[in-house]
Amino acid sequence: MTITPDPLSPILEAPDKVPCVVAQLGQSLDGRIATVTGESRWINRDAALKHLHRLRAAVDAVVVGIGTVIADDPLLTVRRVPLRENRGQPARVVIDPSGRLPSEAKILTDDGAACIAICATGRTPAASCQILHFARTESGLCPHAIVKTLFNRGYKRLLIEGGASTVSRFIDAGAIDRLHVLVAPMIIGSGKTGLDLEPIEKLDRCLRPPSTVHVLADGDVLFDCDLAAARADLRDGPQTR
Ligand SMILES: NC(=O)c1ccc[n+]([C@@H]2O[C@H](COP(=O)([O-])OP(=O)(O)OC[C@H]3O[C@@H](n4cnc5c(N)ncnc54)[C@H](OP(=O)(O)O)[C@@H]3O)[C@@H](O)[C@H]2O)c1
Repeated sequence: MTITPDPLSPILEAPDKVPCVVAQLGQSLDGRIATVTGESRWINRDAALKHLHRLRAAVDAVVVGIGTVIADDPLLTVRRVPLRENRGQPARVVIDPSGRLPSEAKILTDDGAACIAICATGRTPAASCQILHFARTESGLCPHAIVKTLFNRGYKRLLIEGGASTVSRFIDAGAIDRLHVLVAPMIIGSGKTGLDLEPIEKLDRCLRPPSTVHVLADGDVLFDCDLAAARADLRDGPQTR
């Protein structure tokens, strides 16, 4: 009998001495996360949404880009599953280089969960929350620097929840250990795509992560992809793993 591993195990069992960064994306069969008008609720069904909340419950902080806060105004709390024993709600982190965070955003709700805005040096949102400043480089704010700073503040396990641009930047930077792609058997055919990475020319330079596949109760499919291993394979060759 083959026992399919719990996709949360690599996160829950990650060593405390280094950061553990997981990203998630929910998408259609054709890799879309919204229609041309931006409608995105809901592509994935209940079991996938429950999985997203299990991911939130497994981490110390949930990170989103400011585009997601402006488009969806998410609360980013664990609600569809119980919190894990001895753990509260994860902190909420928004990457907001230009200080666009609206002061009425739901992530600022005073419910005990920390809220942190990651801004470019010299930019501060009007909203009241903790602010961390980072230097803006040609490619934006450095994902590794963000991960390191959050780790040093005790946020060791991070969920990069979206949107597409934020997850793509973190993958391009090599800052994601695991990627959970939740695929709904739905064809949208146009509209916003999920991942949009730096172009590569050769298929043998693509990430080909070792993955486990989980068919969820209502038919969506979870791909749990080991991106850290895929990067090591590209760097050192698969034989070294
Ligand atoms: N399907 C899913 O799983 C899922 C999950 C979450 C969200 N979404 C959807 O995704 C859409 C929003 O995604 P999006 O790609 O437009 O926006 P996003 O990824 O939420 O936010 C992108 C913005 O965040 C800032 N940012 C993030 N990382 C940065 C970095 N390393 N350096 C500099 N700036 C950084 C930039 O802000 P500035 O522009 O201010 O510089 C960037 O334009 C919404 O439609 C939402 O519904 C889907």
